[in-house]
Amino acid sequence: MPNAPTLSGELPEPPEKAKLLLSNEIAPVEGDITDTTALSTFIIDNSINIVVDASSAYEAAGKILDGVINAATIRQGALAKDNMIGPKLGFVYTSGAWVHGSQKTRINDLAPVGSVLSQGKPATPVAWRPAHEQDILAARDKLDVAIMRPHTVYGRGSWIWSTWWGPLAQAAKLGSISPVQVAADRTACPGVVHVDDVAAGFHAAIDRIDGRLGTWPVFDLVTETLSVVEIMENVKTFLGVKALIEYTGAHENPFLEALSLVSKSDASRAKTVLGWNPKRTEFLLNLPIYLKAWQASQ
Ligand SMILES: NC(=O)c1ccc[n+]([C@@H]2O[C@H](COP(=O)([O-])OP(=O)(O)OC[C@H]3O[C@@H](n4cnc5c(N)ncnc54)[C@H](OP(=O)(O)O)[C@@H]3O)[C@@H](O)[C@H]2O)c1
Repeated sequence: MPNAPTLSGELPEPPEKAKLLLSNEIAPVEGDITDTTALSTFIIDNSINIVVDASSAYEAAGKILDGVINAATIRQGALAKDNMIGPKLGFVYTSGAWVHGSQKTRINDLAPVGSVLSQGKPATPVAWRPAHEQDILAARDKLDVAIMRPHTVYGRGSWIWSTWWGPLAQAAKLGSISPVQVAADRTACPGVVHVDDVAAGFHAAIDRIDGRLGTWPVFDLVTETLSVVEIMENVKTFLGVKALIEYTGAHENPFLEALSLVSKSDASRAKTVLGWNPKRTEFLLNLPIYLKAWQASQ
């Protein structure tokens, strides 16, 4: 909850993460989002219109959804007592491209995920996610929903790229000329999208969540698909590394396996339905900017 002023009228010092949010003009709230009752109470007490789950609270995703449905049910019930209806509570869920698994041919976000009809098997870390997406879609009697599936996000901290870029940055630092081992399959081909374009996609979905997303409110957000070799050779050139790269595979590690998926997904529906117009394209051309930002955030 927002910090209460002290008797002297001064606000107490907020925790570190709250300070970061405050400095970005976002009102932080302290509380446990996985406490279903606390979450629904907070939504009602603060007249929240739309909840965006952008957390990585994977094991608790169901509890967060339950809290949001609970709030919507209470709100609908209160209005029903006065024979009234109101707008539905909005819920935007951050899923991701890994639910598609690897593809052999081009697909889009109408392709079913986690089913016998799917080309690929969801990556192990998100094997639970197709069922969670279904739970969200099944709650449309109570909620206006959107499910957003960004592909691998770059820009600013680019934390997810550290696994691949880290060994090359280390080799550059040491001036090493022996082969640099990168824990990826040589065939890896991720879809990529800049964090600003992800935000724009979410905004576009939020703007249209009141029934203007059609019957399938699920959107992949991706601007390019690029092979790991192409990406890493460009990283190598920029960092001035002379050594060869050795792709050592995913070592049966679920996270590394997910990074090594092959994406052949496009985002044409996000463009036509949401009017999404990604502006931060040309990942390789602008790679030096993203690498410098990533290095600065390490
Ligand atoms: N990064 C990508 O390339 C990418 C691509 C597609 C989809 N996604 C999806 O986007 C979502 C966010 O990922 P991200 O990359 O933005 O991760 P991130 O930078 O690690 O952010 C995750 C946030 O969730 C918060 N969180 C985790 N568990 C929580 C809990 N139990 N209660 C409250 N907050 C909790 C974390 O807070 P703390 O820092 O305090 O732990 C953190 O602020 C995930 O669902 C992920 O699957 C990410």
